[in-house]
Amino acid sequence: MTERERWATRVGLVLAMAGNAVGLGNFLRFPRQVALNGGGAFMIPYFCAFILMGIPLMWLEWTMGRYGGQFGHSTTAGQFDAMWRSRWAKYIGSIGISIPLLFAVYYIYIESWTLAYSFFSITKKYFDIAEMEKMNTFLQSFQGVSQSGEFFSSIVVAIFFWLITLIINIWVIGKGISRGIERLAKIAMPLLFLFGFILVIRVLTLGTPDPRYPDRNVMNGLAYMWNPNFSRLTDFSVWLAAAGQIFFTLSIGTGTIQTYASYLRKDDDCVLTGLSTSATNEFVEVVLGGSIAIPISVAFFGITTTQLIASQGSFDLGFVAMPIILQKLPLGFFFGAMWFILLFFAGITSSVALTSPLMALLGEKFGIPRVRAAKIVGLILFVLGLPVIFFLKHGYMDQYDFWIGTILLALLAMCETLVFVFAFSRTRISGSRLKNRLLGYLKFGLDAGWEEMNRGADIKIPRIFYYILKYFVPLFLIILFCGWFWQDLRSETSVILMKGIDSQQGLFRWAARLTITGVILGVGFLVKLAWRKRK
Ligand code: TRP
Repeated sequence: MTERERWATRVGLVLAMAGNAVGLGNFLRFPRQVALNGGGAFMIPYFCAFILMGIPLMWLEWTMGRYGGQFGHSTTAGQFDAMWRSRWAKYIGSIGISIPLLFAVYYIYIESWTLAYSFFSITKKYFDIAEMEKMNTFLQSFQGVSQSGEFFSSIVVAIFFWLITLIINIWVIGKGISRGIERLAKIAMPLLFLFGFILVIRVLTLGTPDPRYPDRNVMNGLAYMWNPNFSRLTDFSVWLAAAGQIFFTLSIGTGTIQTYASYLRKDDDCVLTGLSTSATNEFVEVVLGGSIAIPISVAFFGITTTQLIASQGSFDLGFVAMPIILQKLPLGFFFGAMWFILLFFAGITSSVALTSPLMALLGEKFGIPRVRAAKIVGLILFVLGLPVIFFLKHGYMDQYDFWIGTILLALLAMCETLVFVFAFSRTRISGSRLKNRLLGYLKFGLDAGWEEMNRGADIKIPRIFYYILKYFVPLFLIILFCGWFWQDLRSETSVILMKGIDSQQGLFRWAARLTITGVILGVGFLVKLAWRKRK
């Protein structure tokens, strides 16, 4: 058996883990969620979710990753199997391989837009477009959604940048953990910080760009986000959105933190390092991510219009409003390029993480050499990516984003918490009667996990988190999971029921669902093969 891969340095580990979490979500999704959910009204549930759910789940994922790694398991399939003696464990855990794979399929495409837009900034391709509508047409023309041929005659440019992005990703993961992913993080993360700071300073010194509108200024943009607003605290949907953003931004429930953590050594600290990477992510999200798109948009368009922009589409703030504003500044091409390269760095350090569980499965359980495994992953991403690109206008990607980026990650988080809290036990529970088991789990349940979590820790976890993990987190996840279903089913634009979608459009959505199901089953089958091979 070959030696397990390891992180080379602790700094590298922290940067790679932070790179995993810091992504497009911090700069594109977060500002949008803030604007959609009433600014300051959003921040209170957001921080509650971070402390009560984000941090405990982060520790949990680090711990199960490091634990599984001791038995040579880098994926959640093996890690579930190590914690829970049930033949179903590995199949439930296998969604921690299929979720990130499916995530990568559309994430890499969005990432490639940022690369393309960096290029368009430097070459000033979008520089005469001053109206929102026109800039939107530019984006849609690039994506092949609008086929007027006004800016791009075809989707070829988008495909070109997608292929480049895909190849860079494959190249990095082909180099492995310490020589690929860790090195990338050591270069990209410091640059990301630098670019972020420069942009924040530029935004904060904008003042009131147009003296005719005195209330359109940076200060009002910041106040919009930071003045707490208690009136919407009773609005359940704001809580759901806040929890969803915490999940998304910390990369929880995707199976990748566990894979990264499996390359730790048995007694390496999880607690302090897990906490610092979460804190880094929050810093980047709230301070850097929060001080760019919203304040700048409020300064130029005012609060009402900013909310409108955010509500129009996922990417309108980042890809429509930002280019319009940045080109007006002196050295606009420079700041424009900086914004999109920043996004690209944020994206690529996340997308290499998304491919890591499948890479680990292929290498560890099937003995496929790294470079060949990377090529296989690349081929899969290529094939699965084509429909995302060509059917973008048919809502194909939105299906991915809903099922993967919302529902399935909550499902994985729920499963792993239940296994960690109730099934992971060193104490053999006597008797097979359900009642005995249940009592046993309640009594001994978290003890093994808690001990494992605290081993080698550089700081002591306050005891209160024991109870949060044992009672609050499982309960909250169940509420959240059901809450999302309930919210969607009741909504006028329900994704599940495909409300207001004609049958032709519905076809593409069903195609997306079938693909997702197929990938999940396929990966489950691979896991079955892998376990049979081991015996
Ligand atoms: N956290 C990433 C972001 O903010 C998105 C993400 C969710 C992710 N789960 C992940 C990235 C797993 C890498 C691995 O954009």
